Amino acid sequence: MTAKIIDGNKISEAIRQEVKSQVEELKEKRGITPGLAVVLVGENPASVVYVRNKGRACQEVGMYTETIRLPAEISEAELLSTVAQLNNDLKFHGILVQFPLPRHIDEGKVINAVNPNKDVDCFHPINVGKILVGEPRFLPCTPAGVQQLLIRGGYDPGGKHVVICGRSNIVGKPLLAMLVQKRAGANATVTVCHTGTNDLAYHTRQADILVAAAGSPRVITADMVREGVVIIDVGINRVEDPSTKSGYRLVGDVDFDGVKEKAEAITPVPGGVGPMTIAMLLSNTVKAAAS
Ligand code: GUN
Repeated sequence: MTAKIIDGNKISEAIRQEVKSQVEELKEKRGITPGLAVVLVGENPASVVYVRNKGRACQEVGMYTETIRLPAEISEAELLSTVAQLNNDLKFHGILVQFPLPRHIDEGKVINAVNPNKDVDCFHPINVGKILVGEPRFLPCTPAGVQQLLIRGGYDPGGKHVVICGRSNIVGKPLLAMLVQKRAGANATVTVCHTGTNDLAYHTRQADILVAAAGSPRVITADMVREGVVIIDVGINRVEDPSTKSGYRLVGDVDFDGVKEKAEAITPVPGGVGPMTIAMLLSNTVKAAAS
């Protein structure tokens, strides 16, 4: 059996079209143009690309967006003051401070400084807590993308055993909180594996649905999964590849070529979770503007 591909490009495009219609309706019926402020500190090359893509995606669905570029040497106090100004700026319904930040700035303080009503990353502890108690305001973009890939790909997690590899605050922990809820598109039995897990392969072999968010290239191999598993690969890792022009290529946390012979369905890297993240950011921004 060769796995079905769950196509993140196609599914994210459908979500963008839905967001575009919602933006048009908000403009026409309520005179609101959803606005997103994106803050970029320094020139981290990956962040520069991400921020450019986020800005373009906003424009494509008719949102207002500004990128605030700040020098890497900016003080923590100045950055917090910029966030405070954006909190009070009515043009912006969403604020995103691109991470990572330079080492002299405490990311936790920045997360806490964003008005929770404008926290479209859904990183603020209030918003994370709201997910856990089943009253979400926003859903964090990457876990929300994973959930949509499952639902729209035809693999509802309800009643299934979902095994998540990785306990980060950005993916593993919020995804656990989302999928364990008693609601449509969730209602799963969830196991979270991490660097303290003994016999990782024992746990991954129990999965009906495996979410790989471990942050290491191709650590999930064919011997670690059972026939018929559905796999969502959150990993984006650069590995050397002399056969490409750039000298590297992107691979996931899953050994795609080996695992695809056993899985029922799998997301590719690139073209799986990656494009979903921006689509869910747009969705959160329109939600912030509408409420
Ligand atoms: N850096 C990498 N991913 C993200 C994200 O989803 N949000 C923010 N703010 N920074 C990131």
